[in-house]
Amino acid sequence: RKPVSLPRLQEMRDRGEKITMLTAYDATFAAVADAAGVECILVGDSLGMVCQGRSSTVGVTLDTMQYHTECVVRGLQRVQATTWVIGDLPFGSYHESKEQALRSAAVLMRAGAHMVKLEGGGWTADTVRFLVERGIPVCAHLGLTPQTVHALGGYRVQGRGDAAALQLRRHAIELQEAGASMLVLEMVPIDLSADITKELKTCHTIGIGAGSGTAGQVLVMHDMLGINLGKNPKFVRNFMESADSVREAMAAYVAAVKDGSFPDNALHAW
Ligand code: KIV
Ligand code: NA
Repeated sequence: RKPVSLPRLQEMRDRGEKITMLTAYDATFAAVADAAGVECILVGDSLGMVCQGRSSTVGVTLDTMQYHTECVVRGLQRVQATTWVIGDLPFGSYHESKEQALRSAAVLMRAGAHMVKLEGGGWTADTVRFLVERGIPVCAHLGLTPQTVHALGGYRVQGRGDAAALQLRRHAIELQEAGASMLVLEMVPIDLSADITKELKTCHTIGIGAGSGTAGQVLVMHDMLGINLGKNPKFVRNFMESADSVREAMAAYVAAVKDGSFPDNALHAW
């Protein structure tokens, strides 16, 4: 297999092949995800919840993200992996200024990430442009943005209603224009994420709780292995149920995303 790169992701997109992404936070799980054929690994700040036991991602620091990114990248190097690695910029590490965002992004890129991810729309467009112009690929993140859970009033669906949908759509277009090459859409109505996907040509939408109309899908690894501490959201599938190993479960996830059998839009309440 050839290493995943931005041009390869664009090719997949143009062919209509779904892009698969899973989170991983350590060397071994990252290598297993690569072996299972996952194209993209997100070292997500969800590690604050699944590794550190926090109730939100707000307390995660850049040092922690650097550490886990290094762990993942070492694991991938050991197996000569082909996976694209995305480092999640944590709360407070890019909010102050474009310069602060660049310094934080540089920490994750030095740790071995190929791309950084940041949450939010509107004010983030200038930051995204600043990073992209300086050679740092950026994944944006709209809809339910967990770092702002307290401002949003809880973990709930976003972009409902005409005004909210219009704003989300406008933010997505601005982020593509700023140079973002991926966009996570979390907990947004199925039709809205499908519309945004059609509108964006060089920015690939990656859905989670956003239906099957996106260019790709992402899940938190622990959720799809059925081992999270709370109860899984309805849209999540436990791929361990019909698998004999973690690798098999991840391969089943990849296959289900590719053939369109995951996610199941009937399991979305929005
Ligand atoms: O941190 C994370 O795992 C994420 C995904 C849920 C998109 O941001
Ligand atoms: Na995240």
